[in-house]
Amino acid sequence: MKNQEIRTFGRRHGKKLSERKSFLVEKVLPGLIPNESESNDILEIGFGAGEHVRELAHEFSNKIIIGAEPFVNGVAALLSAICDEKNQIKSEYKNIRIWPDDVRLMLNNTKFKFSEIWILHPDPWPKARHEKRRLLNSDFLNLLANNLADNGKIIIGTDHWGYYDWICEQVSKTNLLQNDSEIEIIKTRYQEKNMAQTSEPKYLILTNKN
Ligand SMILES: C[S@@+](CC[C@H](N)C(=O)[O-])C[C@H]1O[C@@H](n2cnc3c(N)ncnc32)[C@H](O)[C@@H]1O
Repeated sequence: MKNQEIRTFGRRHGKKLSERKSFLVEKVLPGLIPNESESNDILEIGFGAGEHVRELAHEFSNKIIIGAEPFVNGVAALLSAICDEKNQIKSEYKNIRIWPDDVRLMLNNTKFKFSEIWILHPDPWPKARHEKRRLLNSDFLNLLANNLADNGKIIIGTDHWGYYDWICEQVSKTNLLQNDSEIEIIKTRYQEKNMAQTSEPKYLILTNKN
């Protein structure tokens, strides 16, 4: 990440973590940091509390799922859900890895080949003066494109239609191709809040042109 790169997320910390969650962050998280030598198949950026990361882990049990999220309480919520009462990772979640920081730091330093990259409800930063904080600008989309495997795809969902239009504009400045395939609504915590008060989220599926 370039030094001056602007921050795209809100808080890093929320309310104080429970003793168990602090333990998980301190002791279990370090063993889940993505490893370059492992096949890294699917990435979810900004996973919130990680419900969709867990769904992916179930659906693609033979693939490694990396979730990236700088909000510590979200990371702790995912850790709590994937660990049993002995603080061991449950067998069905052994394919989850966690990057507990800005995803740009990970992508700029390691070359990945993801078959899927998911971004569900990126912060819309609706005020004009905050537009520069939007993550999905053309530079970032190009970075994602460079980390896609052949035939890999980027799936983006947002309930903020103004952000959707803005993302489409950014896509047109890249070498990515936008497919308008129908996709079923993916329920996430943020989607259920429907902060933008729209009738439904809009989704984009992007692939590399060649
Ligand atoms: C509006 S929330 C949506 C959370 C979740 N995907 C959902 O739909 O419930 C956006 C999330 O993206 C995360 N985020 C923002 N910028 C990020 C970045 N550069 N790298 C990784 N995550 C980021 C934020 O911390 C926040 O949790």
